[in-house]
Amino acid sequence: MTTPALPGSPFLSQIGSELFLEATPLQAIATDFGTPVFAYSKSAMLAALAAYQRAFVDRDALICYAMKANSSLAILQLFAKAGCGFDIVSVGELRRALVAGARPERIVFSGVGKTREEIRTALQAGVGCFNVESEAELTVLNDVALQCSQRAPVSIRVNPNVDAKTHPYISTGLKGNKFGVAHDRSLQAYLQASRLPGLRVIGIDCHIGSQITEMDPYLDAMDRVLDLVAAVEATGIRLEHIDFGGGLGINYNGDTPPQADVLWARLLQRLDERGYGNRRILIEPGRSLVGNAGVCLTEVLYLKPGEHKNFCIVDAAMNDLPRPAMYQAFHQILPVTARSGEAIRMDVVGPVCESGDWIGRDRDLSVQAGDVLAVLSAGAYCMSMASNYNSRPRAAEVLVDGQDVKLIRARETIDDLMRTEKLL
Ligand code: LLP
Repeated sequence: MTTPALPGSPFLSQIGSELFLEATPLQAIATDFGTPVFAYSKSAMLAALAAYQRAFVDRDALICYAMKANSSLAILQLFAKAGCGFDIVSVGELRRALVAGARPERIVFSGVGKTREEIRTALQAGVGCFNVESEAELTVLNDVALQCSQRAPVSIRVNPNVDAKTHPYISTGLKGNKFGVAHDRSLQAYLQASRLPGLRVIGIDCHIGSQITEMDPYLDAMDRVLDLVAAVEATGIRLEHIDFGGGLGINYNGDTPPQADVLWARLLQRLDERGYGNRRILIEPGRSLVGNAGVCLTEVLYLKPGEHKNFCIVDAAMNDLPRPAMYQAFHQILPVTARSGEAIRMDVVGPVCESGDWIGRDRDLSVQAGDVLAVLSAGAYCMSMASNYNSRPRAAEVLVDGQDVKLIRARETIDDLMRTEKLL
């Protein structure tokens, strides 16, 4: 029996009692590579990218993968080979992207706190655009560019003051956020930028939040940004590209975000209606390219029945899967080999010494110690946000391609963790 209705990915299926990622049983991955381990479906990532690519056929567009979602080298390499550019937020990410084969002119550099050193490094690498987030940053970028005898390509990230209707920690386009230049100051910022000799204004940029599951916030943001494009261009400044950021949500728990191609068909229609259909478009999707492609496999260590709650203690923890602790996020959890016994309601928790260390609450599971669980939709913002808290080495990662499974990141060792430290 195949159950195709697992959240998120058509590449995840249940055949009989076994969960498969593509044609590979997840149990085999846990046995071969140990737990916790992240497994990613190559086809799922390429299919997610293809949905965007379909939308932009015959358009002048560049998909810049927001690599903060998952910056593992093999994944970057996959997207670079498929023609993607990258949205980066640090020189660490720049270095990773270049090592993975990114073309520097296809990189946009975002972030509210770029240091002078980072700006210099990115300029020397030849990144395609700096997405500038404040008037103060314009001045610093101009300074550094002049020191390097260069003109920095610039786009200003405008804050359109649109409610993305998502978790407050991942909403970025409202007035109270630290991101971008306020909509009503943006024109002024463009005039400032156009007068600075070290800058070359080339675009405009916005990003309103993450895990967005509706179209309307995008349409509203687009309208607000296009109003600004008109105002900026009326002063004689020409904007070569418009960058609409990322943010499209995925299915964690019955969420129904629009498909990337459907969303963009609608947005491009609006762009055409407003007369900007020929403008170069950039987008910065992260989660929607990788989120549903990945699972985290974790072994059940102990079952701990309690008076008020039952606990299922597993070997993955908040250091591996920080989203539940940080955003009360929901990830579906399934045994990789289903058992017939009665399901018991329990909290799935990790070994870290914090009550916040939970992975799923009130889940009905039929499991025993030694069983392996799959935490679904774990391709985005899990490994890239993983830490070594409690001196826990970070997990291994594998890439699944049909029946082929490749290790793309070895499990960290305890020695790795202490490598940069010194005893007195
Ligand atoms: N562009 C910019 C400027 C961003 O700040 C972000 C995400 C993206 C693009 C990509 O957004 P996406 O397509 O992935 O939604 N750690 C949180 C998500 C933080 C998102 C930060 N910025 C989480 O686990 O939900």
